[in-house]
Amino acid sequence: MDSRWFSVITIVCCVSLKINAQLGIPNNYVCTEDFCDNYLENEPCEGLKSACKVQNSTHNGIIMPSIGPCSCCQICIENLKLGDDCSVGGLGSPVPTGICGPGLYCTANEEDEHPTCQPMHDSSECFKAQKTFDLKRQDGTIGHLMQRPECNADGYFEPVVCIPGQTCYCIDEDGNRIFGEAVHTAAIQISMRCECSRLAAKAQKLLNSRYPILTSRCDYKGSFDQLQCVDDICTCVDMHTGEPTSDRKNITRGLAGLPCFNKRLHDNSTYLRECELVKLNQLREIHDYETLGYNVLEFDTDICQPDGWFSRIQVNDTHKYCSNKDGSVLEPYVTSRSSPEALRMNCKCARARKLLMESNSLELPECCPNGNYKPLACRRGQCYCVDEDGNQLGIEKPAKHKDQLECYDAEDVCANA
Ligand SMILES: *[C@@H]1O[C@H](CO)[C@@H](O)[C@H](O)[C@H]1NC(C)=O
Ligand SMILES: *[C@@H]1O[C@H](CO)[C@@H](O)[C@H](O)[C@H]1NC(C)=O
Ligand SMILES: *[C@@H]1O[C@H](CO)[C@@H](O)[C@H](O)[C@H]1NC(C)=O
Ligand SMILES: *[C@@H]1O[C@H](CO)[C@@H](O)[C@H](O)[C@H]1NC(C)=O
Repeated sequence: MDSRWFSVITIVCCVSLKINAQLGIPNNYVCTEDFCDNYLENEPCEGLKSACKVQNSTHNGIIMPSIGPCSCCQICIENLKLGDDCSVGGLGSPVPTGICGPGLYCTANEEDEHPTCQPMHDSSECFKAQKTFDLKRQDGTIGHLMQRPECNADGYFEPVVCIPGQTCYCIDEDGNRIFGEAVHTAAIQISMRCECSRLAAKAQKLLNSRYPILTSRCDYKGSFDQLQCVDDICTCVDMHTGEPTSDRKNITRGLAGLPCFNKRLHDNSTYLRECELVKLNQLREIHDYETLGYNVLEFDTDICQPDGWFSRIQVNDTHKYCSNKDGSVLEPYVTSRSSPEALRMNCKCARARKLLMESNSLELPECCPNGNYKPLACRRGQCYCVDEDGNQLGIEKPAKHKDQLECYDAEDVCANA
């Protein structure tokens, strides 16, 4: 067997096993057992399908937390095989019972009405992005900070993108940015694999849920937080696989007794972070409303990141602002809630700049008043355009010719950022 193919199967198998391992822990990490006990009285869980229970070469799937406040159950999303019927999904479509397995994607031929699972090969977005990059390189339009996209053997994107001299961030298999960011160093490129944030993003996407989905807690760079708790029972886990590495421990006498306790990251007296407590209350409220027969329509933003701290964008009644991880305003990136800048606000630059400042980096990205990257960046006498994640686009120009760049605006480079 092709060894590369085999290794991909192994990864898929272990992602599921990893989730299984987490299932060994009684409930999810934020909602308490009491909450779920109550909830399940009305709606008991269905049993897991065999595809997720077996996990061999022909029967495999992904175990996901279920939809609903607190994700009290687990559901099985089966891996479909070559030629199987599939659904391309989309907003409002039901949760899929299966998705195309590794190396396959869901597509409809011109003759066929129904989409089926087909090999990705050349049609993979990542391979296409590589080809585009290679053509540009031949044309001499690749700038000095531009990186060739990295794909795995199945044509999916590798998990980390780095902006040289600035930060590295996590992306999902399709190349979309997800949670997880760290200062760019040689060491981080080895240790950052984004397993936990990819799991969280996959759950949110596949389940297409109105509620935030609760998965394991991640650390800032998208790996698993090595300390995971349910109520007062905690365990240490491997940061890459999420599998337990210690016995479970009742932590009513402090978290410091666990071997993975790290006083820089964890609080001895409580596992839950402030944002998680706020979110938990929101979930309880939704549950209460639904019990009373109200349909809770809107719950589209998760105020917390997968590491339990506050998300980078927060809103109040009047303002939308970039937030520090403790929920405080990340100055000076504040906009009035209904302004055009607020609509486009992504705070990606604001957070990266803060991270780089904290690590005493000398080269800081420049941000617009709404915390987005300035579309035109200059470094060491050269200027170039960047995308919303700060990646260089196209060839650079000497600073004195920056007006020749597409993103140049004599008035205000942030006008449309
Ligand atoms: C995988 O498990 C299923 C269900 O137990 C079984 O029917 C099937 O033959 C197994 N496949 C292989 C290749 O072992
Ligand atoms: C943990 O210990 C506390 C105090 O000893 C006890 O009240 C609690 O029930 C224990 N929790 C579990 C889940 O065993
Ligand atoms: C953690 O908290 C417990 C109980 O509050 C205390 O006995 C213990 O000394 C604390 N450990 C550290 C390292 O602060
Ligand atoms: C909303 O946040 C802004 C920015 O921090 C602050 O000035 C304002 O007072 C807040 N408004 C309310 C209603 O909390």
